[in-house]
Amino acid sequence: MKAIRGAITVENDCAEEIKSAVKELLEEILKKNSLITEQIVCILFSSTNDLHSFYPAKAAREAGFFLVPLYSSIEPHIDGSLTKCIRVMLLAETDFLPKHVYLKGASALRKDITNVINIAIDGPAGSGKSTVAKIIAQKLNILCLDTGATYRACALACLRAKVDVNNSKAVSSLMDKIQIEVSYENGVQKTYLNGEEVSSAIRQNEISMLASTVSAHECVRSKMVKLQRKTAATTSCILDGRDIGTNVLPEAKFKFFLTARPDIRAQRRYSELTAKGQKVSYEELKKEIIKRDEQDKSRQIAPLKQAEDAILIDSSDMTIEEVVQFVLNSVQEKI
Ligand code: DC
Repeated sequence: MKAIRGAITVENDCAEEIKSAVKELLEEILKKNSLITEQIVCILFSSTNDLHSFYPAKAAREAGFFLVPLYSSIEPHIDGSLTKCIRVMLLAETDFLPKHVYLKGASALRKDITNVINIAIDGPAGSGKSTVAKIIAQKLNILCLDTGATYRACALACLRAKVDVNNSKAVSSLMDKIQIEVSYENGVQKTYLNGEEVSSAIRQNEISMLASTVSAHECVRSKMVKLQRKTAATTSCILDGRDIGTNVLPEAKFKFFLTARPDIRAQRRYSELTAKGQKVSYEELKKEIIKRDEQDKSRQIAPLKQAEDAILIDSSDMTIEEVVQFVLNSVQEKI
């Protein structure tokens, strides 16, 4: 079961306005959360004590919520707080991450939800970016865009089509023919290549180096950056990559550069891959990670680099929870 919050304001204390505001708010909550009435367990309303003309619960009943248990209460007056506001808590049987809805004047109550926020986390391979980004996305209820996955999908396309990742002409011609997309199921990113889900296939270790090489081509970067910017423009999200803070979203309000010593990063990758049953050698991985970082740092277009305004985090001696808490605190301070 999930709890979904929402609020809306009205201009006048009049029955018709309250009825239409409650209807609009509930319909928007259902739409945003892909819910049907049968999934609603109950709806609790509160309204500021300057609204006397109509009960929000009665308005919900009139709006078609016949069988749902409903409850309304009046909030105490708090000096300086929002006026003529109806708040709602809706409990629903769903596994999806709740999308809270704040409409009209009530959007001021939750700027973190109503304004699109973008968090950039860049850093070298194995620094823990994607692990941290996924947890933060869940905690803030925003999307997590693993941009490396899109470059990995390009590398997989080259591998399958037997295109040399160093040959920019051949890569460019392949890029014109392929389609790469990402979508989200229960907040988890799925990566598609020409309509086929390749989320696991792109995690093979041999793809890592190919992705680094293929990502240096302008034709690849321009296509992937377009996809990343399109998502970030309309959706609050945390993006992890190499050039998010410097190139993809130089205006992002929150930027972090996450790094760790190479031996630690190699150890993390080693544990991650062996846990998935892949046979890899620690020493080989360490060499590969160092080589890949050099390649990502030294390419001409949008190399791996800390943005001047990014906060540097060295996670070598930090737990994942500590890094997550540090990022969350920094975001909360600035929101
Ligand atoms: O984060 P990852 O290991 O999945 O990334 C694979 C490669 O993709 C990485 O070595 C360089 C490239 N990449 C990039 O150039 N820009 C990004 N924003 C993300 C990844």
